[in-house]
Amino acid sequence: MSDETGCEILAKAEFCNGGGSVKDRAALFLIQDAIRKGQLRPGGTVVEGTAGNTGIGLAHMCLSMGFKCMIFMPNNQSKEKIEMLETLGAKVKTVPVVPWSDPNNYNHLARQFAETTENAVWTNQFDNTANRQAHIETTGPEIWEQTGGKVDVVTFGTGTGGTLSGVGIFLKEKNPAIKVILADPQGSVLYNYIKQGKLERTEGSSITEGIGQGRVTRNLEGAPIDDALLIPDTDAVNMTFRLLHEEGFFVGASTGLNVAAAVQVAKQIGPGHTIVTCLCDTGHKYYNKLFSKKEIEQRGLLDCIPPAYRVSLHN
Ligand SMILES: Cc1ncc(COP(=O)(O)O)c(C=O)c1O
Repeated sequence: MSDETGCEILAKAEFCNGGGSVKDRAALFLIQDAIRKGQLRPGGTVVEGTAGNTGIGLAHMCLSMGFKCMIFMPNNQSKEKIEMLETLGAKVKTVPVVPWSDPNNYNHLARQFAETTENAVWTNQFDNTANRQAHIETTGPEIWEQTGGKVDVVTFGTGTGGTLSGVGIFLKEKNPAIKVILADPQGSVLYNYIKQGKLERTEGSSITEGIGQGRVTRNLEGAPIDDALLIPDTDAVNMTFRLLHEEGFFVGASTGLNVAAAVQVAKQIGPGHTIVTCLCDTGHKYYNKLFSKKEIEQRGLLDCIPPAYRVSLHN
């Protein structure tokens, strides 16, 4: 992608974290925050509403720290993530997909469970800013050090907003000229929010998981965001398969979206710049969705995968 654009496109390999995703960083900081505040004592229960990856990070840490883990998840998430959580000893409750405004939203159910359980904490990844603090203290400084301060733009898809916001806050303090660009999937409100100040969903729904949002979370509030890009699934999926076949990275669609955004930024600003994003997690978790020929066809996404790369789809 760097050769193609004349820019240096760098991506932090977040799938190398112990739990396999960028969300391990938030998970560690959320648990440490609960312990520090006395909300979680030895043998207690960590409760979270999560599309999966934060739960996997939390479950790993609960295992090693002697806590129990209870995860509430929307029932449209991949089977692989649920199986993995159960392997890690977490209890998983899948619940119907309803908006935040509905009291049965998975986050509210997680909060209620924690409130009615002794020695339990709802880590609240969306609105507990210990999440973005993880990126202020780790991801941001790593990007700064690993690029030797030579970074022009960072761009990330956002779920809780922790990554974009935390990295943005840290890097803008180091150098206010660094641009922070939010990359949004279809069906999310954030693109319109950044562009026009309106919480209005863009059309469609997305095959990506873990990103896209219907509101401004506390983690995103006040984030120094310069601009937003709307990346359709056709671009995110195309890039996911290109990354596999051309770069040797077997990643999920939120990573495809991140790199597609980085390439779009590179084309807009021209050669000679450094653009940083991250590879959020691996493709294994999405085997039955993103790599299923049937699923890809049903979503009308087959044509965006170059014919030679379709060997990676299974029946
Ligand atoms: C696969 C994946 N990519 C990206 C993100 C977005 O990260 P953040 O919540 O820091 O915005 C998530 C969050 O759950 C995720 O699971």
